[in-house]
Amino acid sequence: MSTENLPPYTTIEPLGGALSGACRVPGDKSISHRAVLFAAMAEGTSHLEGVLDSEDVRASIRAVEALGATVDLRAQADGTLAGTVTGWGAEGPSQPAAPIDCGNSGTTARLLMGIVAPWDIAVTITGDASLQKRPMRRIVAPLAKMGATFEPESPEHLPITVHGTRRLRAIEYASPMASAQLKTAVLLAGTFAEGITTVTEPAPSRNHTELMLPEFNVPTTASTRVAGVEGPAEMLASDVVVPGDPSSAAFIAAAALLTPGSSVAIENVSLNPARIGFVRTLERMGASIEESYRGAEGKEPRGTLSVQFTPVLRGCEVPSQHIASVIDEIPVLALVAAHARGITVFHEVGELRVKESDRLVAIIEGLAQLGVDAWEEGDDLFIEGNPDLAVPEGLVFNSHGDHRLAMTWALVGACGRVPVSVTDFTCVAVSYPDFLADLKELVR
Ligand code: S3P
Repeated sequence: MSTENLPPYTTIEPLGGALSGACRVPGDKSISHRAVLFAAMAEGTSHLEGVLDSEDVRASIRAVEALGATVDLRAQADGTLAGTVTGWGAEGPSQPAAPIDCGNSGTTARLLMGIVAPWDIAVTITGDASLQKRPMRRIVAPLAKMGATFEPESPEHLPITVHGTRRLRAIEYASPMASAQLKTAVLLAGTFAEGITTVTEPAPSRNHTELMLPEFNVPTTASTRVAGVEGPAEMLASDVVVPGDPSSAAFIAAAALLTPGSSVAIENVSLNPARIGFVRTLERMGASIEESYRGAEGKEPRGTLSVQFTPVLRGCEVPSQHIASVIDEIPVLALVAAHARGITVFHEVGELRVKESDRLVAIIEGLAQLGVDAWEEGDDLFIEGNPDLAVPEGLVFNSHGDHRLAMTWALVGACGRVPVSVTDFTCVAVSYPDFLADLKELVR
């Protein structure tokens, strides 16, 4: 591939040996966002620990500061953030002086809409070029039904100005998609609306909001596909200890699976079943991977993931009902599937088109560079694996500025015999700034 028109790239050298021993991954991104945002909404001072120190979470921190919360989170020796957040509580957020820039963080932008909707303020939300392309009507639609208004009137893309109101109405919302961001935005707005707000999803999405809101004195109801909250509630400060991010752990797990002789234990990872669908998928591929529970932080289970190099992997089918539980891991699972015998199918993965980049196209494009046949049929992704995959010299992968693609293609070089290059590799700072250093640490 010609490098002429690509942004600067980073060369990833082979690790040159097996990965072994125990490691930890940074704090969970979804839980970190919620800890910061919920603490900012609550009355009093919350103590947070293990918070992910990454660009995305910093976007949430800056956003709540602009709305009047006081954040004193400091970098710790282990790379996490810890400290306090004092929220605006019953007084509500203050009118920010300028638009709030959420950078690359879809979670910040979408949750923020639900957070400001129940207050008499007008907040303009924007983001970087990638975020400005991502769909927002899915959040605007239910919040408009609740009584918030928007500028422009029915917007699809940022920048969007949300005009909140203290007279928000509770709704029973049948969500057209399994999206935790949508569900959370509606539940957060519903926390301050009069009556019971519910969100019904076509398939279960991650449930961190339902689990964490009660810690902040807001009872929730939750069954497999329906989550609810009764407003108006009083949000009170709480303490949150954030476990490690399974989505980051998935990259270390894949590296161990694909690198001969490897055996690693990834400790203190969230084992929330809605987040470890990738473990179930890898098991079905015949991978040597298992989780062991070590306790819980609040209602979030956590423990250790043990992974060993697995010479023979086989393709498998991931049904549409399970997609939400693997949604962020599909790029790295696709790379594992590329090394497996037979065809792997991910059903109904249209959502991949509207992530930080069009991941569906980018996965197919990157696997083609490896000589692996991958294609889409409708919204299904097919990958015909090749256990004897030989990586050609001089490959340059386009990350499209997408952190999960950058880490996926970096593994081709790190776990292989020849270096590869990845464009815009610094975008890993969105979720896992020390990814490469952590990988290298495991080669002892
Ligand atoms: C997230 C939900 C998912 C996920 C994203 C984080 C969250 O997005 O892909 O990385 O923290 O709620 P959707 O809600 O759009 O499915």
